Amino acid sequence: MTGAVHFALFAANFNTAINQGPYAEAHNVCFYCHNDAGTVQPVTNNDYSAVFGCAPVDTTSIMSTMNQLSYHNLYDIWNFSTGRFSWFKNDSNPCDSCHNPHLAKRNWTNPKDPTLSVMSKPTDHFKLWGTTETMGSVYNTRYEPPYCSPSLTDREPGASPDAVSGRDATPDYVGFCTDCHNTTDTIYSTSLGRNLLPIDWSNSGDKHGLLPMDGGLDIKPPFAATGDYVLSCLNCHEPHGASNVMLIRRWVNGGALSGTIPVYQGNEWGYLCRRCHLDDLESGYSSTANAWYYVHHSSADRPYPGPLPNCSTCHGPGPPSTNPIDCDQCHYHGAVVDIIYGGNAGTSRRSF
Ligand code: HEC
Ligand code: HEC
Ligand code: HEC
Ligand code: HEC
Ligand code: HEC
Ligand code: HEC
Ligand code: HEC
Repeated sequence: MTGAVHFALFAANFNTAINQGPYAEAHNVCFYCHNDAGTVQPVTNNDYSAVFGCAPVDTTSIMSTMNQLSYHNLYDIWNFSTGRFSWFKNDSNPCDSCHNPHLAKRNWTNPKDPTLSVMSKPTDHFKLWGTTETMGSVYNTRYEPPYCSPSLTDREPGASPDAVSGRDATPDYVGFCTDCHNTTDTIYSTSLGRNLLPIDWSNSGDKHGLLPMDGGLDIKPPFAATGDYVLSCLNCHEPHGASNVMLIRRWVNGGALSGTIPVYQGNEWGYLCRRCHLDDLESGYSSTANAWYYVHHSSADRPYPGPLPNCSTCHGPGPPSTNPIDCDQCHYHGAVVDIIYGGNAGTSRRSF
């Protein structure tokens, strides 16, 4: 590109011919700087797990964070934002759907200070989001900030000393993310090749949202079995990109996931769940990590008590212990499971 481009930028704002990653510097003007050494003016930024979650540093720029297994697809964000937000023009930059670079502050210098927000809500682009709108101010004690460092004594964000300061320092990410991910907007994902599931965090939606859990929880501290919590989207997700599918964080509740979640179908989802919920090992049921007999067949709140039909009815041929069922058949945003076998037959449960 020669000569001046729109908005008086020094390079094309965003190359709309690039509808998938991996991204290169020339695809987006922000990447001339928000990129690793070797670029025009490299700016170091770490992922959310490191800056707010006490994880060891992994990726060192926004571009390298996005160039991982999953990422917020910039073309889809651009496409969705065009026509959806009045200020967003055809040649606007998809990064600006979530940021206003003229207002953004340097939150990483003090993750415990939400007035240093970097975000602007897409429907409220001309101010910062999260400076006063915090998980504490909106949800009070229903938001339990997860542990941060492996000492399991401090909290997110940035090793806050206690739960009160942690929730007051965490921006309301639910309000932020549901500006786009809600029950009315339809979002198409090129990477996934389909429309995304709606996200309903209201008290008629997910249990990880405002809907209370039922029965009891099989959960680890700082959460208690009595429940009634509301989680932040960024308890589980990264905002830009992640080494796991679906923007799932590599570090949750004070520790690393015990492995990568490489595909959508599988039992590796358990690596995420077991950062907060009790698997067979941590419940004391058996010595097997990331096995889930206890919560489904044994705990007081189990959905599948006996008398059960032939194990293979659900587990398929072969021993159930080596044939776990894909977790995502039953656990995803909005999921409700109809229980058709065993002591709870005829009931249904919200399973996320
Ligand atoms: C010419 C280089 C350059 C370009 C191009 C650029 N930035 Fe930045 N950006 C910076 C620098 C330098 C900082 C401050 C870094 C620091 O001091 O820690 C910054 C800071 C930020 C911050 C504040 C967060 C933080 O902690 O660093 C955000 C958000 C941001 N930029 C977004 C963008 C977006 C979105 C674009 C593209 C529309 C963009 N930037 C383009 C150089 C650039
Ligand atoms: C879907 C929304 C979204 C999009 C799109 C997005 N960001 Fe972000 N960005 C966030 C959130 C959320 C944070 C972390 C919030 C916080 O600091 O509390 C963040 C943080 C940042 C930071 C500060 C990181 C640090 O050091 O803590 C920079 C810089 C940044 N983004 C730049 C960009 C650039 C450049 C793009 C486009 C390539 C982009 N963002 C696209 C949501 C987004
Ligand atoms: C400006 C609108 C917008 C905002 C705000 C936004 N998203 Fe998205 N999100 C999208 C679009 C468009 C897609 C589809 C593209 C894609 O799949 O990457 C998407 C996809 C996703 C996906 C699926 C990613 C994949 O392809 O594997 C997840 C997970 C997600 N968003 C989480 C979040 C979280 C968490 C937040 C808050 C930090 C957030 N989003 C904020 C627009 C948005
Ligand atoms: C307890 C962890 C957790 C929390 C909290 C969480 N998510 Fe997710 N999210 C997941 C998992 C696991 C998946 C992949 C399974 C699924 O839902 O399809 C996912 C998938 C998604 C997807 C892709 C859905 C699709 O079409 O398959 C979007 C979009 C998303 N999350 C957005 C959000 C938003 C927005 C919030 C906050 C309001 C949020 N998530 C909170 C764990 C979480
Ligand atoms: C960051 C911590 C965290 C992670 C990670 C997490 N959960 Fe949860 N989960 C909770 C909390 C806290 C509750 C209780 C919510 C409430 O009180 O309403 C809960 C509730 C649930 C419930 C409802 C239980 C009941 O008795 O009603 C199910 C089902 C569930 N989670 C499944 C999962 C699955 C599956 C995963 C992994 C894909 C997962 N969770 C990952 C914290 C987490
Ligand atoms: C109604 C369906 C259903 C039936 C019938 C059933 N299970 Fe399960 N079982 C589940 C679900 C759901 C899980 C959780 C996903 C998983 O781990 O496979 C599970 C988990 C398990 C696990 C843990 C597997 C792992 O590694 O995570 C074992 C072991 C198990 N079941 C044994 C049995 C045995 C033995 C029988 C027959 C007496 C049986 N199940 C019958 C639904 C069923
Ligand atoms: C056939 C459906 C099904 C499959 C497959 C399944 N689950 Fe579940 N799971 C459920 C139901 C139903 C509940 C009970 C929700 C409730 O308590 O109301 C549950 C509960 C849970 C809970 C919450 C326990 C608590 O704290 O109360 C976790 C964690 C969990 N499952 C993890 C997994 C993992 C990991 C896998 C994959 C290895 C898996 N599930 C596979 C149906 C399923």
